[in-house]
Parts: sequence; structure tokens; C-alpha cells
Amino acid sequence: MMGNLKLQSLFLQLAFAFCVFISSLSFGDAGITSTFIRSEWPSIDIPLDHEVFAVPQGYNAPQQVHITQGDYEGKAVIISWVTHDEPEPNSVQYGTSDGSYEFTAEGVVTNYTFYKYKSGYIHHCLIADLKYDTKYYYKIGSGDSAREFWFRSPPKVDPDASYKFGIIGDLGQTFNSLSTLNHYMKSGAQTVLFLGDISYADRYQFNDVGLRWDTWGRFAEQSTAYQPWIWSAGNHEIEYMPYMGEVEPFKSYIHRYLTPYLASKSSSPLWYAIRRASAHIIVLSAYSPFVKYTPQWHWIHEEFERVDREKTPWLIVLMHVPIYNSNEAHFEEGDSMRSVFESLFVKYRVDVVFAGHVHAYERSYRISSVHNNVSGDHHIVPDKSAPVYITVGDGGNQEGLAGRFKDPQPEYSAFREPSYGHSTLEIKNRTHALYHWNRNDDGKKVATDAFVLRNQYWARNRRRRKLKKHIQMVIDEEMAS
Ligand SMILES: [Fe+2]
Repeated sequence: MMGNLKLQSLFLQLAFAFCVFISSLSFGDAGITSTFIRSEWPSIDIPLDHEVFAVPQGYNAPQQVHITQGDYEGKAVIISWVTHDEPEPNSVQYGTSDGSYEFTAEGVVTNYTFYKYKSGYIHHCLIADLKYDTKYYYKIGSGDSAREFWFRSPPKVDPDASYKFGIIGDLGQTFNSLSTLNHYMKSGAQTVLFLGDISYADRYQFNDVGLRWDTWGRFAEQSTAYQPWIWSAGNHEIEYMPYMGEVEPFKSYIHRYLTPYLASKSSSPLWYAIRRASAHIIVLSAYSPFVKYTPQWHWIHEEFERVDREKTPWLIVLMHVPIYNSNEAHFEEGDSMRSVFESLFVKYRVDVVFAGHVHAYERSYRISSVHNNVSGDHHIVPDKSAPVYITVGDGGNQEGLAGRFKDPQPEYSAFREPSYGHSTLEIKNRTHALYHWNRNDDGKKVATDAFVLRNQYWARNRRRRKLKKHIQMVIDEEMAS
């Protein structure tokens, strides 16, 4: 009799656990559409004579300095810069002591034309075999024109390596862009995950396109010279401009901003992956072929197989176009990517997908439409295996904010607000990360949306192990009685 009561109690506990499980699959709290209205600064580009665009003094002085990860694991960086007078020197001196450079590495030089604009000499230099978690100092240029910078290499790839990423999209070069960059630089984040649409130079015509790439490079240098920016391409990088004879997609972007795509066995600089600290980051191209059998499609299948959550618990995807978006702007533009990629995101339990493109902020619950096989009906349901989708296309470019959201707010949308800002993702360990979206509030940085991101692999496994242990304990007790 006592045994029956215990069994009833066990079943009640399991029924309760089941109810909790089901309720946790719901969308949770009603989504929030923030009513905050900020007095937006004019969405105009910073004038050319502004100090943020100042050309460094001296003959052939290096400018537009930027770095990015140079390999798969974080033991290499690519240092890039532009000189306008001559292609030499083309080397980087570097070392671990300030002002004392033990090593020298040679780079490669490229340049390009765009209409009648001729780019400067664009230097790219790979520095490999870095020590992990070490501050490096580097020097480029020569004589009075030489310039010195520094960066910190990431910790060794390790499941519990803590690391803080910043997330910025659609930045441009307006006063709002400057506000976003200034706020980001105070965040303490160590690497930028950039979501595409960099300079908005394609809003200009003829020779001004190239010139506005140069101004953006000088504007962003205050951050890009000191920490890696992980690039992804947006529509403003395409620059298909046949009226002036420019039809080669991504010409400026590919010449200026290298990515370590070969290290992840990609065949294109537009899609690739890196591992950094405890994160595996996959960068996709919304503006390259991605349907079944295309190179990008083949590659992402192979790359997901290379992900090892025992080594890099955090699986993050970057792509320019959001596949969940309830803004009037770019509504449903990501549906074709959703039909190709979403099932993979769910299968491989991606933690979070960051996108830009829409000039507003929005965060989803964990949702998917992969369980509905009805063609054309994207029935979106809660899905614990799915990523959180976050749109951070609010860097602050000259096109202004996307202020009109669909009404009513869809159930999948957790928080949305049409303001400029940036996000940070602070990975604490293999199970938890802190996420913030920081609004630019009339010049002040205000943490507006925040949540604790639980790892899709380790937090779930731990829960499962804990539940299994608990059930086994109850069964053992029952058998012993
Ligand atoms: Fe875009």
C-alpha cells in the first residue's frame, strides 16, 4: 500500500514536471514593444572635415588600420591598413613589450579602382603563432609616420573560457554611428561581431563611393585597430553600380576587409567560421547563393559537423538578413534563408542568431517553423531546440530608423524598439552568458534589454542529467521499500 502511494506520488511529480515542461514551451510573457521615443539626431553623414576622419600626419602614414582573426582557433590576426603615397613598407613589427618589437612579418599589397577612384595601397599582414591571452604591441609605417597600436589575443579555445563579444550592425558614418561606436568602446567587450552594412558608401556616386570607404576606415580605426572585428557582408557591400561600369559584387569590401575563410575550408571570403575562446561563430552570406547544392550550402553542412560543443559550447550564427522580423521594413525578406537554414539551426542547437539589416532592435523567443510541413504556411511555434533570434541593425546609418513595427506584436517577438544601439554577449562559462542591448539614449548608453542566455548544449544536458538522477533516486527508494 505504501509502495502504491509512493508510486502515485512519483506519477504526480512526473505529471507536474511534464506540465512545467509544456508551459515552458509557450511564448512566455507577452512581448514588449517599447514606447520609448528618442529625439533622433539627423541621419546625415559626418562632414568630411570632422576630426574622426582626420588623415594621420606624415608622408605615407598608415591609416584605416583594422584587425580581424586570422585563423580558425584565434592564434593569428590579420592586420590591415592603407597608405596613399607608396606601397612600402609593407611589414608589421610586433612583440609583447611596449615599444620593443621582437618580430617582423611581411604583408601583401593590393589596390583597386572604382569608377575613376583609385584606392590607396591596401596592406594585409598575417601574424601567426600568437600566444593565447597575451597583449601584443605592433608598429606599422616608418620614420616620423610610423604608428603604434596594440591588441590582446583571445584565451585558448576552452569550454569554460569567459569572453565578451560586442554586436554591431548597419553602422554607417553618421553622428548616430559615432554615438554607437563610443558607447561600444566603453562596454569592455573584446571582439566585435559585425552584422553587415559597413560604410554605406554605396549611397554616394562616382568617386565619392571610394572616398567614403576611406572615411569609414579612419572613423572606425579607434576600435578596429585594437580589437578584431569579425566581418559579415550586407547588401550595402554589394555595390552593383552598372551606371558607372561597376558590376563586380563586393569589390570594395573584399579588397579592404579580409576574412580567414580558408581556415574553415570555405571557398569564399563571404562565408566562413572561427572558434574564439568558448564560441564557435559561423558567418553566412545572405547575398550569395545558398540553396541546396550551392557551395555555401555544402560548406555549412560540413561546418556544423565540425562544431564540437565539448570544446566550444557556444554556437553563434551571424547573417545580415533576419529570418524572424516583425518590422514593416524588410518584412519576410529572410524567408528564403529560413527555408534553407532553420532546420540546421534547430538540429545543431544554435544558441543565438544575430542579424542586422532592419534599422531597429528586436529579440525573439526560442521559436521555429520547422515542425510544420505544410508548404507556404510558416506556422511558428515555441521550440526549445531553436536559437534566439536577435536583430541589431541599429548601428546608426544615414538611412535612419525603421520605426514601424507590425501591429499587433507577433507572439514570437519578445522585445522590440526602434532606437539606435549595440549589444554585448558576455560568456561566463559553458552554461551561462549575459546578454544586453544598449540603446543610444540621446548620447547616453542605457542598458534596455537584458537576459541570461542558457547554453543549448550544456545547460540542457545538465538539466537532463539532474532530472535523470532525481528520477533514479526516487525509483531506487521505491525499490528499497
Ligand atoms: Fe542591409
